[in-house]
Formats: sequence, C-alpha cells, structure tokens
Amino acid sequence: MRPLADRISLIKPSPTLAITAKARRLKQEGHDVISFGAGEPDFDTPKPICERAIEAIRQGETRYTPSAGTMALREAVSRKFERENGLSYSPDQIVASCGAKHSIFNALQVTINPGDEVILVAPYWMTYADQIRLAGGEPRVIHTDAQTGFVPTLDQLRGAVTSKTRAMIVNSPSNPTGAIQSRETMKEIASLAIRHDFWIITDEIYERLVYGVEHQSIAKLGQEVYDRTITVAGCSKTYAMTGWRIGYAGAPIDVARAMSMLQDQVTSNPTAFAQAGAIAALEMPDSAIEAMRKEFEARRDLIVSKLNAIPGVRCPNPGGAFYAFADFSQCLRGDESDLELANELLDQAYLAVVPGSVFEGPGCLRFSYATSREEIARGIDRLAEYLDARKA
Ligand SMILES: Cc1ncc(COP(=O)(O)O)c(C=O)c1O
Repeated sequence: MRPLADRISLIKPSPTLAITAKARRLKQEGHDVISFGAGEPDFDTPKPICERAIEAIRQGETRYTPSAGTMALREAVSRKFERENGLSYSPDQIVASCGAKHSIFNALQVTINPGDEVILVAPYWMTYADQIRLAGGEPRVIHTDAQTGFVPTLDQLRGAVTSKTRAMIVNSPSNPTGAIQSRETMKEIASLAIRHDFWIITDEIYERLVYGVEHQSIAKLGQEVYDRTITVAGCSKTYAMTGWRIGYAGAPIDVARAMSMLQDQVTSNPTAFAQAGAIAALEMPDSAIEAMRKEFEARRDLIVSKLNAIPGVRCPNPGGAFYAFADFSQCLRGDESDLELANELLDQAYLAVVPGSVFEGPGCLRFSYATSREEIARGIDRLAEYLDARKA
C-alpha cells in the first residue's frame, strides 16, 4: 500500500472504541451488559428543539449559511454568553462549528505553531492531545491524582510554563474526572497567561451540569485574560444534542475571524437546520434543563457513594459533568494495568467501563453515569461482588 501522510500517525487509536465495540457484540450475543461507557446524555433532545429544526426544513432553511453560523444563531449565542457567563462577545466574535470538538480544533489550528507547547491537566479528554499534535504542537502534561481531587497545585501550574508555552487548555467541569477548577486555580492560570503571554482555550461544554457549585468562565476574570481566551461551549451535553453537531466559540475578534476563515475552507457552516434547533435550545427556560441536571446530580450521589463503599476504591466527589473517575490501583493484582482490569470486567462481569490510562490517569476507571439509577445500582453491586470474589 502507498504510505499515508505522517500526520495521521499522530492520532492514536482509541481503546474506548474497542471496548464499546466489544460491549455491543456481547450484548448482541445476549449477555446482560451494563454500560458505563457512554459520553452522551441518555435523554432525548427536548421536543421544542426538534420542532424548531423540522420547521426550519419546512421553511427551506436547507442552504448554505455564513460559515460562522447564521446571524440569528450568533446573536442567540451572544445573549447566552452575556446571560449565563457574564461575558460580552458580539456576534462577529462568535463562530458556530460542527460541535465543540470542531471549535477546539479550529482554536488550536489558528493559535499553535510547530514546536509550541500546550499545557494540559491529566487526566484529560484524549482528543486534546491528538488535536494539539495535529496542529504541530506538543502537549505539556501536568499529572494529578484522586488524592488531590484531580486538581493541579499552583506550583504544578507554575512549573509547567516554559519558553515554548503557547497555550493552555482548561476543561472545567472535566471529562473524565468531573473536577471543577477552584477560583484560586483559575486566577493562577489567568495570571500565568498574562505574564507569559499565552492563549487560554477553555472548554466549558459541561458548564450547566454542575452540582452544588457555580460554573465560572475564566474569561470573566478581567480584560487581559479575556483578550487571551477562546471560550468554547456547545449544545451536545446541556440539551442532549450530541448528534446535532453544534458547538461554538467566543473569541477576540482577530481570532474569531481566523477561525471562521479556516472553517470557510474545511467544513463551511454547521448544518443549517441544526443551527435553527440550537437557537431553540439556547432560548429554552432553565426549568427544562434543570430537570436533567437534577437527575444527573442524584445519579452522581448514588454512584460515588456506591463506588467508595467498595474496599480499596477511592472516588473523589465530582463537582460536574456525568463521570465518576475512581482510583482502583489497590484492586489491581501484581503488575496488572487498568486496561487489563477493564477488559476483564467486560469479559467476565459484563461491565463496560473506560480504563483511566486512556486519559493518562493510570490505575483508574471512568464510569459515565448517563444511565438510569437502576442500572447504576445493579452495575456497581455487580462490580463489588466481582471484585470481592476475585480476591478470594
Ligand atoms: C470535554 C469535552 N469537550 C468536548 C466534547 C465534544 O463536544 P461536541 O459534541 O460538542 O463536539 C466532549 C464530548 O465528549 C467532551 O467530553
């Protein structure tokens, strides 16, 4: 076969997909698989959003729109940033894309040069590392663990900055840990960015799924931070719209223009009628989202308490998102890895979880609680029994 471009070797195949495919096959074979693998809400997209998109198709909103999104969508996003985040982004500072994943890709492509370093806090969503490399950059990883609740210390943050630092990715609430960065941490990141003049790319996709804490946008910390920040969010998680592919970014005007220009030549606009649905989502009353958020909170309480009741397991209480990231290192035998444990749990106990190593969180397992409370209770009971039996 003719060789492919070197670039493609920068992307690592995802063990998550292998586990998901195996879980699906076992289910099809009739096994009672309980899955904690999903990275998406298990709710349906609320009806008013679907109705608006259907209406848009009927009205002929099926053509190209401006690459950065329709003015109506960018105005709705602008109002959302003002109302929910206290951030002032005019519509021409906003670029709507095919999911937040695409917004982050655009942001990295327009800010990173070959050889630049981008600071990442591990455990991190693996897409970041691959997208940094695709932009020619190198991830500079800060490692955190369950003991500190997966939050970096101020010294770790300061120590990660080098002469090559070009950007830092902030993800609060985090996938995979659910951790929320404190105000003190945010302030330190902001002051480092100002002092060393680097970009902050903040992925706030889980901003509405927070439990007992308030979400804060780092760009709100002052004009100098705002001028260096690209704020990314989207519809996927808040409104159960993962398949619609609508994300967006608010950025300083020159950055927004560059992202839009890049998008001109890569995807053009995100789907026209999905944009119409996104406007309906952004205009929905808080009560509609609150019902989903409350359910996630109840599930979080359930899964965290059940995981911590298993001998040897340590699970910090995640402040947001829908993941519990638990340290299983005391349950591992000899030089067994979390990858091996995750495979064994699927093969022997029919439990699908994502190994922490995927996120540079070795010894840990990620449990998505985007599944019913009954399934959570049944699944974690089965896990506890299985681990107890294999000790014997
Ligand atoms: C941290 C994080 N950012 C972004 C995304 C992607 O969001 P979107 O569906 O808008 O591309 C995900 C999805 O799993 C995520 O976990």
